[in-house]
Amino acid sequence: MRPDLRQTVRGMRDLLPDETWRLRFIEGCARRLAELYGYEEVITPIIEYYELLAAKIGEENRKRMYVFEDLGGRKVALRPEFTASIARLVSTRMVSAPKPIRLFSFGSLYRYDEPQLGRYREFWQANYELIGSDKPEADAEILSLTSDFLEAVGLRNYVIKINHVGVLRGILGHEGISEDGQNSIMQLLDKKDWDGALKLAEDYGASQRCVETLKRLFNLRSEDKNAVFKGVSEAVEGYPSALEALDNFSGIIDLVERIGLKIRFQFEASFARGLEYYTGVIFEVYVPELNIAVGGGGRYDRLIGLFGGIDMPAIGVAFGVDRIMLAMEEQGVNPPKPERKRVLVVAVDENNVADALKIAVALRRHGVQAEIDVMRRGLSRALSDADRRRIAYAIIVGPKELGEGKVILRDMRNKVQEEIRIEDLPGKLSVF
Ligand code: HAM
Repeated sequence: MRPDLRQTVRGMRDLLPDETWRLRFIEGCARRLAELYGYEEVITPIIEYYELLAAKIGEENRKRMYVFEDLGGRKVALRPEFTASIARLVSTRMVSAPKPIRLFSFGSLYRYDEPQLGRYREFWQANYELIGSDKPEADAEILSLTSDFLEAVGLRNYVIKINHVGVLRGILGHEGISEDGQNSIMQLLDKKDWDGALKLAEDYGASQRCVETLKRLFNLRSEDKNAVFKGVSEAVEGYPSALEALDNFSGIIDLVERIGLKIRFQFEASFARGLEYYTGVIFEVYVPELNIAVGGGGRYDRLIGLFGGIDMPAIGVAFGVDRIMLAMEEQGVNPPKPERKRVLVVAVDENNVADALKIAVALRRHGVQAEIDVMRRGLSRALSDADRRRIAYAIIVGPKELGEGKVILRDMRNKVQEEIRIEDLPGKLSVF
């Protein structure tokens, strides 16, 4: 079937100037926060080897990758996230960099998701990775950065859904379920298919005690950490590594609380994420207006070792910029767009075009935002168009004034005009 060339490819969008401005506003907030927390920006390729991106990304995400063969016969893919590329980079060219390594990335990603509100096939993330520490303060830093990011873009009323995969993996591992088996169970949990997860655990040979433990965990969700931690600790008795994970989890939350951050947590013992590389705390950010996550992250202590041979603990978070934009809209957050005063230079007739161009060039060199009339619609139409486009000043370049080294400067809002010497223009206009 011939494609309709007036349409973007399904799942892809054009961003008009206002939307692009909002995306760049969020990027600016993200970049400022990176600086404040000491994260340095890196740029990695949009195309990577398929095997790199596919490792530990989880079955669902793997199926949704844009995979193709390049002209050299290499199996490559468009990146669906930054984390794999960062892990590759750190395990190769940054392997001996002093720890911790704090890296920031911003850019577009590609997933063949089913398009709907907030779910696109090309989307943007602001991504932060903190590499080299397995201490709870590293986890606390990422959570504090998450809360600061949401505040910085102006979002209110968000909840961080949080869990620790070490608890579930600790139970399943104790039961002798292989990592692959655990991953399949986690995929079902990510889709909230609790019955399916229980059934699969049984198929993999989980004991009756394990099934009962999982059932208890699946019912534990609350904003009250004490209720959830107590419930989990009772449920996982006899599973030492699950208890260890719980201990780590409560230490992190304790630290976050002591920073004094007003983060609303939703503790959910059955919460899992589709990405398979997580080994510790995992979380997703929600706003009440949208039922999809605006950000997500977690600890992954074994991914970097997969590529470089040396394990390096790490934790990170990525914000979905497109969804942050939607959330801002829903919550009525309208960052003021700083508007520079604009100047339009109009030639009265075609003999003055070169002079008009010259004046515009000189003004821009003085930092004045000067546009030139390129339509030759005649003076009165050019002025009414300038009004419509909220131009502050028009400079009218005509033969009579030019003869005296002058032009007409028209204040568009007050509709007053004066003759002014050309060399005085920058001084007059560069003050705003
Ligand atoms: P993720 O949860 O797959 O995590 O993606 C993070 C965020 O990207 C999501 O919360 C969502 O806001 C946004 N996102 C994902 N898919 C789409 C889509 N199809 N359309 C629009 N937005 C989308 C990661 O990507 C991990 N790499 C995060 C991380 C960094 N973990 C450790 N370090």
